[in-house]
Amino acid sequence: MTVASKLVVIGLGYVGLPLAVEAARAGFQVVGLDTSERVSQELNQGRSHVDDVTDADVREILSGGFTATTDTSCIATADVVVICVPTPLDGELGPNLRAVEDAARDIAKHLQSGQLVVLESTTYPGTTEEVLVPILESSGLIAGQDFYVAYSPERIDPGNARFTLRNTPKVVGGVTPLCTERAVDFYSQVVDEVVVSGGVKEAEMTKLLENTYRHINIALVNEMAQFCAELEIDLWDAIRCASTKPFGFSPFFPGPGVGGHCIPIDPNYLSHRVQTRLGYTFRFVELAQEINAGMPAYVVRRVQDLLNDQSLPLRNSRVLLLGVTYKADIGDVRESPAADIAKTLIELGARVSYIDPLVDSWAIDGAEVRKTADLKDGLREAHVAVLLQAHSSFDHDEISGSGTWTLDTRGVLSGPMVVRL
Ligand SMILES: NC(=O)c1ccc[n+]([C@@H]2O[C@H](COP(=O)([O-])OP(=O)(O)OC[C@H]3O[C@@H](n4cnc5c(N)ncnc54)[C@H](O)[C@@H]3O)[C@@H](O)[C@H]2O)c1
Repeated sequence: MTVASKLVVIGLGYVGLPLAVEAARAGFQVVGLDTSERVSQELNQGRSHVDDVTDADVREILSGGFTATTDTSCIATADVVVICVPTPLDGELGPNLRAVEDAARDIAKHLQSGQLVVLESTTYPGTTEEVLVPILESSGLIAGQDFYVAYSPERIDPGNARFTLRNTPKVVGGVTPLCTERAVDFYSQVVDEVVVSGGVKEAEMTKLLENTYRHINIALVNEMAQFCAELEIDLWDAIRCASTKPFGFSPFFPGPGVGGHCIPIDPNYLSHRVQTRLGYTFRFVELAQEINAGMPAYVVRRVQDLLNDQSLPLRNSRVLLLGVTYKADIGDVRESPAADIAKTLIELGARVSYIDPLVDSWAIDGAEVRKTADLKDGLREAHVAVLLQAHSSFDHDEISGSGTWTLDTRGVLSGPMVVRL
């Protein structure tokens, strides 16, 4: 198998940068292309802005020839181009494919015969053939004949030290069998295992199936958590027990709401596609959306209950939020349910502060939330603490034994003054 000499990764974020690092280590000459001057400058100076990639990783690939740029002309000399740009929602909660279309236009301008173009951004089934290919073919070259196109869903799990890009199987589907072959050839040099899908739409659907499955199962336990609280049943203990079944059960855990850029967003791509193409709703997703989106308001209600038990109103009470990122042990606050919780608490007059060793500053609607530096002091000052994210650096005993009523949304604390979600 020949190592393709040059790879251009478009979009150097949580998905693109780990790919650039792994491909550089596999022997590719990698150029990272990003519209952000700041991102490319920082990388060229050896600084990483992504949790899972260290400055040392960036310096290592820089010394091996990696460069980051905002100049799209690098595409012309690539063998492989991989698109890892954001796919957010627009105002109507429908897919916003602007970055994918922009990247495709940049590629079309420089496209050469024999190149392989792969889309990794999460999107609805049909995007590769209906959106990407037509833009690329505006170059005059024909997909599957002059150049090759495939989709490979990105499966990065930020903060997961056990499963990385290299040892997580990579699903690949091309628009023709030859496209698939080229894409398999590329990825098998970068990751340990490549899984070939039956077609490009099946590869696109794989990612949405995975994330919709998580979304729905999280909603299931979130709904159960609410009535278990009333029935005085410890759902976390029931999940622990059910998890001992060696078949037919996968554990999911309740929490303050879903965050990040996958779970709250990707199922919308799928339900939008079903709605616009077929005219009916994807009912499971709609219900999961409703339950998960209601969790921040439920957390606020439980905070009010805890204060009520102390004969305190929420207005002017001091509420300390512990961990505000969307996931444990990473510093990413995008789409974190903590923001909705803080916003509602502030609107209701609470005096909100937070502790998060991974977040230096945190603003809600442009106003900085007060950061408390010391856990002990913060807990002593608060009327109620809310554990939103169970970062491993938090001292559970210190929180549980602080003498401050604590709402535990993660099911990791225990003690007479701890109340679970
Ligand atoms: N972060 C994750 O955990 C994760 C996991 C699975 C899938 N995804 C999916 O992967 C895709 C990328 O997500 P991400 O988290 O890496 O995003 P990100 O926001 O971390 O990074 C995207 C980068 O792309 C750049 N960019 C935007 N438009 C561009 C363009 N036209 N040309 C060049 N660069 C451009 C941005 O400046 C940014 O640096 C999305 O579709 C996302 O849904 C993300």
